[in-house]
Amino acid sequence: MANVTVIGSQWGDEGNGKIVDWLSARADVIVRFQGGHNAGHTLVIGDTVFKLSLLPSGVVRPGKLSVIGNGVVVDPWALLEEIETVRGQGVEVSPETLMIAENATLILPIHQAIDRAREIARGSAKIGTTGRGIGPAYEDKVARRAIRLCDLAEPEILTAKLDQLLAHHNAYLRGVGEPEIATEAVLKKLEPVRARILPYAGVAWQRLEQLRRAGRRILFEGAQGIMLDVDHGTYPYVTSSNTIAGQAANGSGLGPGATGFVLGITKAYTTRVGSGPFPTELHDTIGQRLGERGREFGTVTGRARRCGWFDAVMVRQAAKLGGINGIALTKLDVLDGLSELKICTAYRLGGSLVHHLPAGERAQAAVEPIYETLDGWTDSTQGARSWADLPANAIKYIRRLEELIETPVALLSTSPEREDTILVRDPFQD
Ligand code: IMP
Repeated sequence: MANVTVIGSQWGDEGNGKIVDWLSARADVIVRFQGGHNAGHTLVIGDTVFKLSLLPSGVVRPGKLSVIGNGVVVDPWALLEEIETVRGQGVEVSPETLMIAENATLILPIHQAIDRAREIARGSAKIGTTGRGIGPAYEDKVARRAIRLCDLAEPEILTAKLDQLLAHHNAYLRGVGEPEIATEAVLKKLEPVRARILPYAGVAWQRLEQLRRAGRRILFEGAQGIMLDVDHGTYPYVTSSNTIAGQAANGSGLGPGATGFVLGITKAYTTRVGSGPFPTELHDTIGQRLGERGREFGTVTGRARRCGWFDAVMVRQAAKLGGINGIALTKLDVLDGLSELKICTAYRLGGSLVHHLPAGERAQAAVEPIYETLDGWTDSTQGARSWADLPANAIKYIRRLEELIETPVALLSTSPEREDTILVRDPFQD
């Protein structure tokens, strides 16, 4: 049986919470493989709204195993708080239902201090990070000085590694006039969480490999979106992990053959939170309307998201980079009632036409969208459960998107409710 990897094809916030929940009901194991608690996934199950950041979405479904893979950066305090929150909502979380890769990198308070200090130092060129310490934690991992989950079980090693880590970072904090952080203070803060988090630590790659061999269905749950990928996104206005499907293999310890069907969650228009280029951004009443109707406020930081027309150049690029087999189109109903809709089909750059988003910062900021205009629709698409429920112009819009991004729609989501989904192709059956 095939596995499924879900990734965002734009700048995150494509509405993957509902799709992942819908798919997790069909999966046995749900794996997070990158990012950390910068992600925000909202699940609506019956009358209960779950807001998850670090826990895989499968955690709210009994009988599923949730895995936080080695590619994730884990803030132990944030994780334990999230576990308590979902427990308070009646969800059972135990080492039987949740495993964290013992080699996952930890986010410590120093990382948040550095994240904040760096943003201040960048001034108007700030990235607009979530302030969760994600970037600095990944930097430490690559620099081979990170504290990993397994280190919490080895007090002597932990102290020595912390000394080294803090000596490195305190030099920077001193330089920018921020308070330094002492090893003892971090150890004291870690002490009460060590015993609570270690029971979840395990050899995730091995467990996943065994489950895979036993024919269990695995759902890899990506966070953020391809345009925030540290290699392929709008660098430097990106997150610090790889968000493409290939990372599902690296970030879980399974080989590349395990990722299965790659489903790209794609919003019917575009949003972005934080700084950076956004060719189709709207600064007018239509942009405002998309933000209001789409309730475009960050789940994690509460920041208003920037809104704009669908950028087919960018999503086509994302589909190729991410190895996307099919998309799940979300939030179509936000476009209901607009008399006309625009789709960006190419960019103009210095008098030439370009059909991809260039890598250079200056070029990314300078590209101008070239639009194709389609007629809108007046009827509501909200809650549609079959193609016959959709207005003809909505179907035309979807078909045109498919053509331009050279990728078919596998799923269409027509409201936050789980059942309001039109299934074209079941990713697990592919
Ligand atoms: P960081 O991941 O906190 O370092 O933030 C880097 C960039 O990624 C900023 O522009 C954030 O707004 C953006 N970002 C991080 N996580 C998410 C997410 O889950 N959705 C949308 N944007 C995100």
